[in-house]
Amino acid sequence: MRDLSNELLDWYDVHARKMPWRVGPADRKAGVRPDPYAVWMSEIMLQQTTVAAVTEYFKRFLSRWPTVTDLATAEDSEVMGEWAGLGYYARARNLLKCARAVVADHDGAFPADHAVLLKLPGIGPYTAAAIASIAFGLRHVVVDGNVERVMARMFDEHTPLPASKPILTEHADKLTPQNRPGDHAQAVMDLGATICTPKSPACGICPWRDPCKARAAGTAPELPKKTPKKAKPVRHGTVYLAQRSDGAWLVETRPDKGLLGGMMGWPGSDWVDTSQPRPLNAPLETDWIKLEGEVRHTFTHFHLILDVMVATVSNTEPERGYYLPRDKFRPSDLPTVMRKAFDLAQK
Ligand code: ADE
Repeated sequence: MRDLSNELLDWYDVHARKMPWRVGPADRKAGVRPDPYAVWMSEIMLQQTTVAAVTEYFKRFLSRWPTVTDLATAEDSEVMGEWAGLGYYARARNLLKCARAVVADHDGAFPADHAVLLKLPGIGPYTAAAIASIAFGLRHVVVDGNVERVMARMFDEHTPLPASKPILTEHADKLTPQNRPGDHAQAVMDLGATICTPKSPACGICPWRDPCKARAAGTAPELPKKTPKKAKPVRHGTVYLAQRSDGAWLVETRPDKGLLGGMMGWPGSDWVDTSQPRPLNAPLETDWIKLEGEVRHTFTHFHLILDVMVATVSNTEPERGYYLPRDKFRPSDLPTVMRKAFDLAQK
C-alpha cells in the first residue's frame, strides 16, 4: 500500500504554515522540540478561534508570561483582561487553573502522557492528543474541524456531522503514522486550512488528490455533510454605564460560573427571551439616559440585543459593582459584547 502519510509529510516539509508556536519541519528534524507550554497555549486559544485571530493574543501571552510558572502566579483579572476579545471565556479560567495545576502537581512541566494531560482543567481529548503528538511526539489521533473535512473527502463519507465523528476519527487513525505523528496532525490541519477548504477546494494541487475518493466522485465541495443546526433564539437585556464625575467607571466582575464568567463587565439585567418584557435592573438610582441604537452580539446558543443606559453620577454607592479609576480602566479588558456597549456610549 502506498504510504499516504509520507506523501503528505513531503508536502508539509515544503508548505508548512509558519506559526509563532510551531517548530517547522526542518528544525523539528534537526531535533528542536516545541515548548509544551507554547503548544498547550496555542491549542487552547485555537479552540473555536482562527489562527489569524489567535496569533497576536498568543504573542502577547507568551511575552507577558513566558513560562507556565509565570502564568500560574498571575492575577486572575490580568489574565482575563488579556483574554478579552477572544471569546469562550471558560477557556481563560481553565487556562489559569491548568497552569496552577501543572505547577502544583507536575513540578511546572506538562506531563508527556495523554491520560494524565486529560485530567488537567480545560484539556479534553482533542487538546490532549494535540499536545501529546505535537509537543511530545506520541502517536495520538488529532481530530478537529479541518481534519474532519479532509477525512470526509478522502473517504467520501456522506454520513452527516456530528453523527459521523467516530467514523471520521477511525479514518484519521488509519492514516496517522508512528513516525512524526505531530507533524502529520499539523499537516492534515494545514491541508484543510489551505487546500481542502470548505468552499472551492484546490484539488488540483492537493498532495492527496489521487487517493481522494471524493475527488474521484466529484463530491468534495459538498462534504462534509452536516445535520442542520437549530436557529438561535434572541434574548434581550439592559446594561448600565455609569461614569463618576472623576472619570471612574462603574464596572463589575462577573461571577465565575456562567457566560463571560470572571470577566469585567457593565452591571445589567438578566438576559431574557424576547417574549418577556424588557428587563431593567439598574445598579444605582439616578437619571439614566437610554442611548439610541442597541448592541447586538451572537453567542454560541443565542443572539443578544442590549439596551444601553448611561449616566454621570456623583459618588453614589452602587448596589452592585465597583468604581474603577479612569487610569485603571482599559476598554480592551472588556469582553466583546461589553466593549460594543462602551463603543456605543462613545459615539
Ligand atoms: N489548529 C489547531 N492547532 C493547530 C496546529 N497546531 N496547526 C494548525 N492548525 C491548528
